[in-house]
Amino acid sequence: MKIRAVEFIKSAAKPAHYPEYDFPEIAFAGRSNVGKSSLINTLINRKDMVKTSSRPGCTQLINFFLVNFPDTGDVPQEELSLVDLPGYGYAKVSKKIRAQWQPMVETYVGTRRNLLGLILLMDIRRDPGKEELDMVRWLETKQMPCLLVLTKADKLSKTKQLKQLDAACKAFNRDRDGIVLFSAKTRQGRRIIWDEIHNLIDWYQEEE
Ligand code: GTP
Ligand code: MG
Repeated sequence: MKIRAVEFIKSAAKPAHYPEYDFPEIAFAGRSNVGKSSLINTLINRKDMVKTSSRPGCTQLINFFLVNFPDTGDVPQEELSLVDLPGYGYAKVSKKIRAQWQPMVETYVGTRRNLLGLILLMDIRRDPGKEELDMVRWLETKQMPCLLVLTKADKLSKTKQLKQLDAACKAFNRDRDGIVLFSAKTRQGRRIIWDEIHNLIDWYQEEE
């Protein structure tokens, strides 16, 4: 995937501060420290465009990035907005920040008209928790597409990766095609995630 430029646009907590463009947008959600910022960096081939940290709770606002593809004809749209959502479920983040998280993300998903879908990340070493199951169910009620990604796959052997994949498939009632194994370290799964994003963009263009 050729990318011409990536630009950090802004951080926002509420709709009045979201960027006003209506380019197709994809948002990345998941527990703190799961690797959301790293996944975005891997997708856009940048080492540190999106700030990552071994300290959980690094991203606390909604961060908007704009990707520009060269006009080579292999993508239907030259601009794509990527959104790094703050992580949830980290105990050491203050209560106040935790109380802000849910309404911030719910309002974003509920009001952002150019949002095509979410990518929900889970650490491959953990079984899906209530937060993830609730989130997927909630997105289904909103008819919001959600791609599930198991991150940090490099931490497990191939056999164990497949075992966790099957456990996640069972928990979410999806088949293996519905969940992606990903590693920011080996870049495993990057191509599949881009393909899924482009499918959503194609579908968005047809709807218009
Ligand atoms: P918050 O912004 O706090 O919600 O975290 P985040 O989900 O954005 O996680 P981030 O990308 O900052 O990564 C957290 C830590 O996990 C960092 O130390 C990363 O280097 C590490 N990490 C992320 N992805 C991978 C991966 O695929 N493999 C391995 N081994 N480490 C990873
Ligand atoms: Mg982050």
